[in-house]
Amino acid sequence: MSLQRSLKSIIPTHTVLEGGGFPVRRPTAMGSLMSPFLLLDEMGPVHWEPGQAIGAPAHPHRGFETVTYMIQGAMQHEDSAGNKGDLNPGDVQWMTAGKGIIHSELPQDDFLKTGGVSHGFQIWVNLPSKNKMMEPRYQDIESTKIPKATSPDGKVWANVIAGSTLGVEAVIDTVIPITYIHMKIQQGGTHTQYTERGLNSMVYVFGGTLHVGEKSVHDGQLGLLTDGDEVVLTAIDEDAEFLILGGPEINEPIARYGPFVMNTRQEIQQALIDYQNGTLA
Ligand code: CO
Repeated sequence: MSLQRSLKSIIPTHTVLEGGGFPVRRPTAMGSLMSPFLLLDEMGPVHWEPGQAIGAPAHPHRGFETVTYMIQGAMQHEDSAGNKGDLNPGDVQWMTAGKGIIHSELPQDDFLKTGGVSHGFQIWVNLPSKNKMMEPRYQDIESTKIPKATSPDGKVWANVIAGSTLGVEAVIDTVIPITYIHMKIQQGGTHTQYTERGLNSMVYVFGGTLHVGEKSVHDGQLGLLTDGDEVVLTAIDEDAEFLILGGPEINEPIARYGPFVMNTRQEIQQALIDYQNGTLA
């Protein structure tokens, strides 16, 4: 018999300034609570005047993955492994920093000139110790290559970044099993999401109100779910727009210092030394 997930707890977000000073909404509690995710930043939405948009100039990463998903606006990214490209609305950059990468994330030139609304997500996915020092890997997927799904009644829409929903599988390859789905449910719509039992699962709402069983998750809230095989998500009073996120519990110590996420303080010190010596990437 299938076990239904329910809402275990709600974590509110607060707005902080990140990178060169762009506003992000971020859950007030993170780390092991939302394993395997280390960080969940909703970037904006923010309206930039011409010439004002800012990003995160060159910075190192080691020991995890950064996943950037643009909804509005445009960014350009570049890294020490020679990858370079634009991120336009709907595009995803899945960067596995592994043993080390230097990363730059800036507003795209034309977007910087004209200004406009910038909105997207950056999520950090932790890696188990055995994968922390893997070779860096980079997957840059254009919006048109990200599978979309719609329910038969047309009330549920999904952009399938990782995992699967409504019979549609993602194309991005993940190191550990990750679900990352951008979903919209119209008022009166409902969706049953399969969630592998034993993996953590959560929803982040960034528009309207989403009902999980009897409880509701509002705009700017992260809802952590109990264990189970599936979860029933419903939009009752208004439309709901949200992310479904899932992955394994990584039961390992987290040593975190800025852009480095390892298991021990010694590994962090080594990352700092390698960065200073220019051997991180
Ligand atoms: Co970065």
